[in-house]
Amino acid sequence: MKKITTRPVGIFDSGVGGLTVASAIKQILPNENLIYFGDTAHLPYGDKSRETIISYAANITRFLIGQNCKVIVVACNTASANAYEAIKEEAGNQAVVVDVINPVVDYVTKRAEYKNIGIIGTKATINSETYDKKIKALNPLIVVSTLATPLFVPMIEEGFIYDDISNAIIRSYLSRHELRDIDALIMGCTHYPIIKNQISKYYNFKLDVIDSSAIVANYLRKLLGEKNQLNMESNPRYKFIVSDYTEYFQVISRLFFDEEIRLEKMDL
Ligand code: DGL
Repeated sequence: MKKITTRPVGIFDSGVGGLTVASAIKQILPNENLIYFGDTAHLPYGDKSRETIISYAANITRFLIGQNCKVIVVACNTASANAYEAIKEEAGNQAVVVDVINPVVDYVTKRAEYKNIGIIGTKATINSETYDKKIKALNPLIVVSTLATPLFVPMIEEGFIYDDISNAIIRSYLSRHELRDIDALIMGCTHYPIIKNQISKYYNFKLDVIDSSAIVANYLRKLLGEKNQLNMESNPRYKFIVSDYTEYFQVISRLFFDEEIRLEKMDL
């Protein structure tokens, strides 16, 4: 049995969006071995039922546990919002589970200046009301304003990022009455960091637009430090697996992870 510190950090998402989280983890924890699983065969999760999301997430968790991961990072808001408890149950005492919602909720509720927090995400994330409930549980005085922005994921995956189409879609969603008067906006989907600049631009760079990736990576560093599980050896190994491979996923993965990576296909 390998010592716990060198065991990999398992990361998963419905597709390549979670690579934004993997990239932040690589920067903040450069020694860690990483195994990334993108469930591209079942993408998108955002339109699926809770039962289906749970069944996909539990299956991937079993796979990552089989790969001897010391921690599982659910780099998908949709799975974090709908399947966190099921994932923890599946992982049991074999690996700690870190989602992308709890660390962000913790971060925003500690900032007294945030009185009205906006959240955008997939339909399944917004409809689950997970963010609303978790923020209210920590601070019932915060107003939580949510909006499903389902066109963002296909827009980003199709490469509409810095053009008239993406600007029109971004403007159309962000100008909705649900998001009026907010003092911070949580990007509740791991694809959205790709359009963070355009979202910030819509607000003339005057609104805090919150990207969960660095918050989650910092949370993970603290957690592994507290558990004495930080990998002190250098030369980390990275493995990127997808459940369905296309050249296109290979090409766009470059956008989400800031270096060239090689995707391997695997059926679970
Ligand atoms: N990246 C996923 C998330 O964070 C959304 C993509 C999907 O709908 O599968 O919610």
